[in-house]
Amino acid sequence: MGGAKNAAVAILPAALLADSPCMIDNLPYIDDVITLADILHEVGAKVTINKKGCVSIDGSTVTNHRAPSDMVKRMRASYYLLGVLLGKFGRAEIPLPGGCEIGARPIDQHIKGFEALGAKVEIEHGVVKARADRLIGNEIYLDVVSVGATINIMLAAVKAEGSTTIVNVAKEPHVVDVANFLNSMGANVKGAGTDTIRIKGVSELKGCEYTIIPDQIEAGTFMVAAAATNGDVVVANVIPKHLESITAKLLEMGVEVIEGDDYVRVKGVERPRRVNVKTLPYPGFPTDLQQPISVLCSIAKGTSIIHESLFDHRFRHLEELRRMGADIKVEDRVAIFEGVGSLTGAQVSATDLRAGAALIIAGLTAQGVTEVENIHFIDRGYECIEKKLARLGADIVRLEDGQTLLQAVSSNIAMIR
Ligand code: EPZ
Repeated sequence: MGGAKNAAVAILPAALLADSPCMIDNLPYIDDVITLADILHEVGAKVTINKKGCVSIDGSTVTNHRAPSDMVKRMRASYYLLGVLLGKFGRAEIPLPGGCEIGARPIDQHIKGFEALGAKVEIEHGVVKARADRLIGNEIYLDVVSVGATINIMLAAVKAEGSTTIVNVAKEPHVVDVANFLNSMGANVKGAGTDTIRIKGVSELKGCEYTIIPDQIEAGTFMVAAAATNGDVVVANVIPKHLESITAKLLEMGVEVIEGDDYVRVKGVERPRRVNVKTLPYPGFPTDLQQPISVLCSIAKGTSIIHESLFDHRFRHLEELRRMGADIKVEDRVAIFEGVGSLTGAQVSATDLRAGAALIIAGLTAQGVTEVENIHFIDRGYECIEKKLARLGADIVRLEDGQTLLQAVSSNIAMIR
């Protein structure tokens, strides 16, 4: 598997906090990372690609506390520039972010944290303007467990005067990875991965070398693809502990999952058993795998239920699965699946990153050819997904006009790196 997207999109901007260059390895070659590198360049950082997946970032040349609106709107994680530029300069002006349309995605908790550190924050004409003469450590209680707010507040607090305690934080692997990166630069961040993070502000941060953790969501996506096609797949270069919730659900569905030190082997079944899933912050079942596993629920024996507890509009892919013959009812944030024997190929459209991945998996299981449109969403978060799947025996090609044709075949044993 490649490097974790949701760690990479935070660690790249975080590198600007150092007064000398950072070298970051195992970056996924995906559109969000490319866009972010362009944004960092725009604010004045020196970004050098050393080799595929490895960049050097020198934040010492950054002078601009504003980021370009057109690029920022292409992705959600551009909001990390708020915490970084506020932490570096005491000022930041960043347009409200874009990103997957999966429901309301406010940033009130981010702002609550910045204000607790002494910043004045206003939103004018869609631009978040934050400024502080001094950032002073404080106790911050998050009303909602938020990956973005946890990371953004850490970024602003690592160079604040005194100590900061953030309570009710997100515990995702990528949150821990960002904290580890900050500590590699000389920050003093403790407790990442627990409910409370404690930070002691330091006066300066130095460049470092860092390797990003493997992507738990990409790995989970391929695990579901193997299960859905009755395949037998080894997903290599993973941290099995990060995959425990998806492994548990696949085992419940009758899928065989064998864990190694840095791989998982997934052996599918003719027809998975029904399951109930509720998405929760880590270590609960990740909302980013809700859409992929909904394909398995569509073809499972019996009635499955998915409760999407984090986002209020993350079922848009279900309409597309219905086109392929799925039998799904939606009541508010609960989807009820009456499993069918198999899906049938159709022309479908990706509506966001993980919805697109789910539709590719649906196409791999379906009888006949499926065409997935708008795959630019998928390219934001998956590196060459069709090449990795083709290596597993999938008959999948990318058409020049931005669509992907799929043919359903079962996968066989292979290593995905
Ligand atoms: C991150 O989004 C990920 N994106 C998302 O992954 C992921 O789905 C999400 O975390 C949950 O794990 C990145 O890391 C770039 P949140 P984020 O703040 O930070 C509410 C993908 O497919 N909330 O943890 O935006 C929010 O509305 C993407 O890779 C507030 O109310 O998610 C949601 O209901 C999609 N106020 C809940 O918290 C705030 O200030 C969790 O959101 C912030 C969040």
